Amino acid sequence: MYDDEEQGELLDRFKELWIAHPAFMVTFTSVIVVFLSWTIRDSLKIRDIQQKHVFITGCDSGFGNLLAQRLHRKGFIVIAACLTEKGCQDLKACTSPTLKTVILNVTNPKSIDKAVEYVAAETGNAGLHGLVNNAGRATPIGPTDWLDMEDFHRVLDVNLIGLIEVTLKFLPLIKKARGRIVNVASVMGRLAFGGGGYCLSKCGVESFSDSLRRDMQYFGVKVSIIEPGFFKTGVTSLEIIEKDLHRLWNRLTPDVRCSYGDKYFDKYLKVQRLSMKTFCSADISKVTNCMEHALAARYPRTRYGAGWDAKLFWLPLSYAPAFLSDILLKLLLPRPLAGGRALAKNKVDV
Ligand SMILES: *[C@@H]1O[C@H](CO)[C@@H](O)[C@H](O)[C@H]1NC(C)=O
Repeated sequence: MYDDEEQGELLDRFKELWIAHPAFMVTFTSVIVVFLSWTIRDSLKIRDIQQKHVFITGCDSGFGNLLAQRLHRKGFIVIAACLTEKGCQDLKACTSPTLKTVILNVTNPKSIDKAVEYVAAETGNAGLHGLVNNAGRATPIGPTDWLDMEDFHRVLDVNLIGLIEVTLKFLPLIKKARGRIVNVASVMGRLAFGGGGYCLSKCGVESFSDSLRRDMQYFGVKVSIIEPGFFKTGVTSLEIIEKDLHRLWNRLTPDVRCSYGDKYFDKYLKVQRLSMKTFCSADISKVTNCMEHALAARYPRTRYGAGWDAKLFWLPLSYAPAFLSDILLKLLLPRPLAGGRALAKNKVDV
């Protein structure tokens, strides 16, 4: 590329820079060295994945389904847990008999016990290399005063309480293998908006995972948190969300409905559709790539922001002062239009 003379000149120029600006050059060189070492460290892989078992929850569709197929192709011994029998059959149909499936309902303690028993028998003395807590649901989701306790329970029981129970019951198998736990949180666990149990549950997953990581480090167990932005999966399915919103809206008391105004519901749906179309990425492999890294890298990361919206918008916004994130979210999200104001005015008139 360079002849000897040019190379000599470059070297001389570099030496001059070192002498003229030592502080700058030390900083510059350190940044490059740190960046290179981090990149190399991050790219190192574990060995013998053909002998390592990974257990994934929520494999009926979405991230879990794709992850099961990918890890299976990569050579891991995959045990995929599905909520339904159909989920198991569909997954088996598109993989090979070496991929094992098991039925799991994370809100049912007996169902978890059965899954643990099955995985303990499959893994034997080796223990479990990876547990991926992926099962989750988003609905009921909606303005806070549209919801009752049952609505909160339905989400929290799956996304948080279920995840904790699965983790506690699988922990002995994980410790045996000095394995990994990969918990699926969300950018909405870092920045809460859109009422309901979803943000609460994901914030709880963040917090539970942080404690777990600190407690388990002495046993060689690593804990990673995945924070996906918006992706097209069953969780963000407009059909399911809209159907449930209709249910919530229709059961509102006249007072609450009046405070939002008659036109609010249609506007809310419209904004919901538009924001899902704008934000949701169809490429869910961005999320499964993070999970794969957490399971196959020698040094898994603590947190993985998945998707550009997460990396460049939601996660940075979660560090912003509340007044700033409030303004931005107010611009993005639907709000009670005429309804709220009309009610306030009536009150004044009375
Ligand atoms: C999961 O278990 C809970 C608690 O036993 C039960 O109420 C629920 O119907 C179950 N869900 C499915 C899909 O089987």
